[in-house]
Amino acid sequence: MDTSGNSAFPPVPNPASSFRLPVILSVVLGLVTLAVIVGLCVYVARRMKLSIVTEPVQPKPSPVIKFWEADAPTMQKFFLKLAQENPVRFTAQQLCTFTENYNTMLGRGGFGSVYKGQFPNGVEIAVKVLNRGPNKSIEEQFMAEVGTIGRTHHINLVRLYGFCYDQFMSALVYEFMENGSLDKHLFSDNKKLEWDKLHQIAIGTAKGIAYLHEECKQRIIHYDIKPGNVLLDENFAPKVADFGLAKLCNREDTHVTLTGYRGTPGYIAPEFMLKNFPITYKCDVYSFGILLFEIIGRRKNTNVAGNSDSLDWFPKQVWEDFEKGKLMQLTEACGIEEKDRAAAERMALVALWCAQDSPDMRPPMSAVVKMLEGGVEIVPPPKPFRYLFAVGNDVVRAGSGSGTGSGSTTSGGTNSYWYKETTPVMAKYEITVASV
Ligand SMILES: Nc1ncnc2c1ncn2[C@@H]1O[C@H](COP(=O)(O)OP(=O)(O)OP(=O)(O)O)[C@@H](O)[C@H]1O
Ligand SMILES: [Mg+2]
Repeated sequence: MDTSGNSAFPPVPNPASSFRLPVILSVVLGLVTLAVIVGLCVYVARRMKLSIVTEPVQPKPSPVIKFWEADAPTMQKFFLKLAQENPVRFTAQQLCTFTENYNTMLGRGGFGSVYKGQFPNGVEIAVKVLNRGPNKSIEEQFMAEVGTIGRTHHINLVRLYGFCYDQFMSALVYEFMENGSLDKHLFSDNKKLEWDKLHQIAIGTAKGIAYLHEECKQRIIHYDIKPGNVLLDENFAPKVADFGLAKLCNREDTHVTLTGYRGTPGYIAPEFMLKNFPITYKCDVYSFGILLFEIIGRRKNTNVAGNSDSLDWFPKQVWEDFEKGKLMQLTEACGIEEKDRAAAERMALVALWCAQDSPDMRPPMSAVVKMLEGGVEIVPPPKPFRYLFAVGNDVVRAGSGSGTGSGSTTSGGTNSYWYKETTPVMAKYEITVASV
């Protein structure tokens, strides 16, 4: 029998092999099904375990790139520019790095938010990220203003190191002031600052503003003098902050008050209430006077309601006590020690001069410095705050022409409208200069 399969007939089917194929197929199918079931069980078990045991989510590290490690020449260039005292342009990424992703906010004001940061060399900075309103300034205009602010240097002005300007953000990079703003020390419950320190702060602040008004190539009007804009360094030496911002940021967008004028309520000069009245640098002198009242009283001038003609308005009380010859008693009631009361009384007179209704009647800041420092005899001030009782051009104009708007001396010699020059020794012994 030929079993080789080479016959002419088709091979006879082997009954054993025809039975094996379906068996193999069903075994494979069974194994696959089993694997799928086991897989499903494992998956469900894991899900159930996860829903019972919630593991803590690890915070993602912030995407901070230490660009200076990669780009040392750029940093060198930057420090060189800083040394040359020109403002430096930073990128948004650099500011993000300096502030460690904006993780420490120092405060928020009318222009934007302020964050603490550090340059790679360890110098601490404050980064002010500006609000961008609909009237955002164009890049060139922004750089022109920043250029002016950045090149304005004085020991009593906060230094601007640089800025950032791109499609999405505008920011300013300032020197960091360890002791923050004066308002926090003046109005806090634990008022630790000695009166003498406050006196020095007043003089330093006046010198900073005098520099802006009288010594800069282009006069800079601040428009927002208040304790919040006087910053204190590690020794509590004062520096005026935010000068030049009014022009840079189009202040109307950020500091609109109920009556529609600029500045911070409570510190704004009365001329802002009048339509078409020229606003000059003397508006800063008025606000500085209001700040002086707050130093004397160590309290906000206005009550919570901010009603400046209420009986509780401290400057009005100072005027009334001055009229009655009771300034000494007032300083005592303010908790000022006897040894400091003469300087405090002097400060009250300066404040009354600064807060005169008519801008011309207010002394220029260089005169304010002299008057605060002593060594000159302050002329008794006329009545201020008449605008509180009758608003109108006449009130603010009253006295115009009698004072010297320019702040120069009135009648030759060294005496001015606001003070008489004396030397401390002559004053001590009540010796007067002979007039022939
Ligand atoms: N250079 C700085 N160093 C340290 N702290 C600062 C610096 N600049 C601002 N600050 C802090 O940030 C706070 C907010 O400042 P910001 O100038 O934005 O507001 P403001 O002074 O209250 O109001 P305004 O917008 O009218 O100036 C300040 O009160 C101060 O505590
Ligand atoms: Mg400020």
